[in-house]
Amino acid sequence: MPLLIPELIRKKRDGESLESDEIREFLTGVTTGEVPDYQISAMLMAVYLRGLDDAELTAWADAMLHSGDVLDLSRIDRAKVDKHSTGGVGDKISLPLAPAVAACGLAVPMVSGRGLGHTGGTLDKLESIPGFRVDLDVETFARIVDRVGACIIGQTERIAPADGVLYALRDVTATVESIPLIASSIMSKKLAEGTDGLVLDCKVGTGAFMKTRERAADLARALLAIGRAAGKSVTAVLTAMDDPIGDRVGNALEVEESIAVLHGEGPADTRELTVRLGAEMLLCVDACETPEEGAERLAAVLDDGSALEIFRRMVEAQGGDPRVVDDPRGILPQAAGRTAVPAAASGYVAAIAADEIGTAALLLGAGRRRKEDRLDPAVGIEIARRSGDAVRAGEPIAYLIHNGHGAEEASARVRAAYDIRDRPPAVSSRILEIMR
Ligand code: URA
Repeated sequence: MPLLIPELIRKKRDGESLESDEIREFLTGVTTGEVPDYQISAMLMAVYLRGLDDAELTAWADAMLHSGDVLDLSRIDRAKVDKHSTGGVGDKISLPLAPAVAACGLAVPMVSGRGLGHTGGTLDKLESIPGFRVDLDVETFARIVDRVGACIIGQTERIAPADGVLYALRDVTATVESIPLIASSIMSKKLAEGTDGLVLDCKVGTGAFMKTRERAADLARALLAIGRAAGKSVTAVLTAMDDPIGDRVGNALEVEESIAVLHGEGPADTRELTVRLGAEMLLCVDACETPEEGAERLAAVLDDGSALEIFRRMVEAQGGDPRVVDDPRGILPQAAGRTAVPAAASGYVAAIAADEIGTAALLLGAGRRRKEDRLDPAVGIEIARRSGDAVRAGEPIAYLIHNGHGAEEASARVRAAYDIRDRPPAVSSRILEIMR
């Protein structure tokens, strides 16, 4: 029977609920190409305006998930767990986190994305390690996860293909910022990994998709509802994304910072996020009894070198140069220029606007404006003064690591990002709330 697509669009437009089989048929038509772009676009706008109720949301996400393959990692007998972040400036946490959780005895099969905007995504960061490959087939992926404990690859075309179609149309029809569409998009890809547990890092603040805590909590609730309906153990963590994470923004620079964390060093916030998110990953598959116990185990594997060792083996298994672990600067691409950005005033750094820092990194070439753009792995920003630090006018607040492009405009952006005041701000944890 031909699908009565206009009737489905009308139902959603008028605020009625769609049945599960109507959603499934619609999204099957999206995947096969039977439903044309103009009808998909109209449906997306109807969903954007009317939302989806709980039953519709879980049916929509499930249909997107089953538009493609679900990985079969049943040969791995350890508990399998992953983390997803809604994204932020300087968010390199997956790099130290995956090997650290693997060092605690779990398997971390991570299918990750590329960045659009500010800086690259996890894949782009890893690819700044010479030789590192993220385009492995599923068989090789499963073998590395089994042998090493962690492997990070890119999404294949067979994972949630409906999302590829919907996302491209959302991007050009002003329907990206819809909580049910974002939640089903994220979860359709994450559930396809076939893990037992999933921790969702929902970012809140100037440098995040969700600018307010209320919106971030709404997104977290939608993500949790989809995960639970799929029978997974899921936890959402709301984390602050006002200042950039850590002190490096840019692809190779973020790898360098991640390696420092794996040596038991690195900025306190990058380490804290690694430890706390890792603890929730252990907890959600019952690999520890309390978050405190999980955090102690994470801290121990960062300090005793065992997480670093797994990272070394993961890099090697994925074709990268493992010497990066001992000599990051000797192996990672280095930019030609390092230019200080001077403070405009004396006082204390009260806040650093992550979105401005992200734009500065983009201007230097660390990110993409369009999907087909090439990024420069070596460039980015080194943050020299962080929130809470004292600074005198004219002293460096940050350094631009560049190859000659965009430095002038980036410098102005970095200066604009810094809010310098007379008194030091109260510095608090990035962890705002845990929703289990
Ligand atoms: N990330 C996704 O994967 N999908 C969205 O819709 C938004 C962010």
